[in-house]
Amino acid sequence: MKILVIGSGGREHALCWTIAISPLCDALYCAPGNAGIAEEAICVAIAATNIDGIVEFARSKEIDFVVVGPEDPLVAGLVDRLDAAGIKSFGPNAAAAALEGSKSFTKEFCQRHAIPTAAFQRFDSLEPALTYIRQQGAPIVIKADGLSAGKGVTVALSLAEAEAALVAALRDGAFGAAGSQVVIEEFMIGEEASFFALVDGSHTMPLVAAQDHKQVGDGDIGPNTGGMGAYSPAAVIDEAMTARVMKEIITPTVEGMAAEGNPFKGVLYAGLMITAKGPQLIEYNVRFGDPECQVLMARLKSDLVPALIACHDGQLAHVDLRWDDDAAICVVMATNGYPGSYPKGSPISGLENASQDQAVTVFHAGTLRGLDGQVTANGGRVLGVTARGGDIRLAQKIAYQAIDRIEWPGGFCRRDIGWRAIDRLG
Ligand code: AMP
Ligand code: GLY
Repeated sequence: MKILVIGSGGREHALCWTIAISPLCDALYCAPGNAGIAEEAICVAIAATNIDGIVEFARSKEIDFVVVGPEDPLVAGLVDRLDAAGIKSFGPNAAAAALEGSKSFTKEFCQRHAIPTAAFQRFDSLEPALTYIRQQGAPIVIKADGLSAGKGVTVALSLAEAEAALVAALRDGAFGAAGSQVVIEEFMIGEEASFFALVDGSHTMPLVAAQDHKQVGDGDIGPNTGGMGAYSPAAVIDEAMTARVMKEIITPTVEGMAAEGNPFKGVLYAGLMITAKGPQLIEYNVRFGDPECQVLMARLKSDLVPALIACHDGQLAHVDLRWDDDAAICVVMATNGYPGSYPKGSPISGLENASQDQAVTVFHAGTLRGLDGQVTANGGRVLGVTARGGDIRLAQKIAYQAIDRIEWPGGFCRRDIGWRAIDRLG
């Protein structure tokens, strides 16, 4: 079959890398892709948010199956448009994608279905929001309601910080329309984990879990980013916790969405806080995590394509996926300056050297390859150096050995990805 992947990040490189080896895949396209994806797929210069362009391309190329990587086209209704054109795809329709597209939708949904999550209030004007946080006190969490590329959340440790975040979102429009409404949440204490489940509208299948590092600096300090690294397995999500998360969070969500007339299909990614009271939902995403997808694909032993198609067809009950017992780690290399402003165009060398080891795959995110073959940085997060090893410590060692073979003065990475899991090994 002909498969089209939508997106251009490390997540989509990992998906293309996995899909390309499926016996079901005869031809693989990616819109728009990047320099690394071009080694797995035919890249077509259509932006992930150009819904008309994607539907037209899929129709003209007689694409059999479209796999949507990022959230924006899902929230904007790409799957609805593909459905209307008779083209199968992986991902939720716009109504179900509201689980990621609107934090207030999700919080209110959780309330209706008794899904454990932080207590919250929603505000669209500054004065009442300020009054509320002064009553509640710090620490407290302020979130822009809409999509803001992982950057619309302030975990305020002091009231002054919380006030500044509210002023930025509600008075100064720092997050544009996404922040014209804010959700203010109770601060939860615990260990975070990324939990993934495939969903076909009614059936669910948990995948292996992962943990990511959202903050830019070593020791998990500094501003939040889209994700500076990830690893799998996640020790906090053992078999018993998986069963509990399925029972208390994932299953009621899938049943609730179906009961409300918005059945969810695709991958449901629950950002969890494992608290003393048990697992609590921080947020839902309606697509694979980036960079969590890179470590999941590194551990996947089965063909992914039948599972993705089964989500569309409502046939997930007949699918099984097998995972490598090895650990996997992905260290993100980003352009100096990220998550603030950063230049484009810095040259990167040594990529072939870095991926000599069979256990290593260098997934590309924001990269371009010039006519002379030179790879340059073209975004904030640029590479995801991914390694497998018998345990997380070994995987980490292999990943950093590979990174040390990459010559990129214009980029940086954290040097401690996986530290929490390694500490646990003792
Ligand atoms: P989100 O974009 O909602 O995943 O939030 C980004 C990050 O902020 C999360 O990964 C957590 O580290 C942190 N965070 C979000 N909500 C809370 C909360 N209610 N309590 C504590 N930390 C939170
Ligand atoms: N790694 C966090 C995310 O994909 O949202």
